[in-house]
Amino acid sequence: MKRIIFAIAFTAFSSMGLFAQKVKSLPQPDMNMKVSITEAMQKRRSYRDYQTKPVTDQQISNLLWAACGINNPERGLLTIPTATNAQDIKAYLCTAKGVSLYDPKANTLTEVTDKDIRPILCERQSAMAVAPAFILLVSDLSKFRGNAEHYGAMDAGYASQNICLMCAALGLKTVPRAMMNYDEVKKALSLPENIALELNHPIGY
Ligand SMILES: Cc1cc2nc3c(=O)[nH]c(=O)nc-3n(C[C@H](O)[C@H](O)[C@H](O)COP(=O)(O)O)c2cc1C
Repeated sequence: MKRIIFAIAFTAFSSMGLFAQKVKSLPQPDMNMKVSITEAMQKRRSYRDYQTKPVTDQQISNLLWAACGINNPERGLLTIPTATNAQDIKAYLCTAKGVSLYDPKANTLTEVTDKDIRPILCERQSAMAVAPAFILLVSDLSKFRGNAEHYGAMDAGYASQNICLMCAALGLKTVPRAMMNYDEVKKALSLPENIALELNHPIGY
């Protein structure tokens, strides 16, 4: 009987939106970094061995802003160029606690699952799964009229390079990775067909 009452209450509260998604505010990205663009380019490298040492919310905020944040709120323009200004790139933060979607306007992270998907992101490169965070880049292909897969992949490349350079500037390590278990990641995040998995970046020391 208790179970039935719980089930009815759960369904009712869910439909009323009372079980809200977990939303976390990020600190504002640091706009006063002193590292020059040439220094960041000089330091950029792909790394494949990571410590478990955590990264900070400030570092994550800078990285997500670099990936697909807003640098012109008046015109709603981004840190990355996107084909036809489709703004198709979305970034997920993946940690041991689960996966959250970055909202560039609100500068927040919204939880989409409490599953740790780092092992399925790493796939055969399993040693990397200890990295404290991954940024997963996807493209919303529905934002394009034609050439969607081509444009989505190119747009993800800009986001990926910004992540590489921001990591170098922050003294963090990363590597752009196309390898991941595509089917399992799509399933874990309940992604529809028109969302293409593009690249993932381990972030750490
Ligand atoms: C589109 C793309 C996909 C990549 N996928 C992987 C990957 O799945 N795993 C990996 O270890 N490195 C991956 N890399 C990193 C390359 O292997 C690396 O950039 C290359 O070896 C040159 O090294 P560097 O980045 O240190 O200059 C990828 C790079 C790009 C641009």
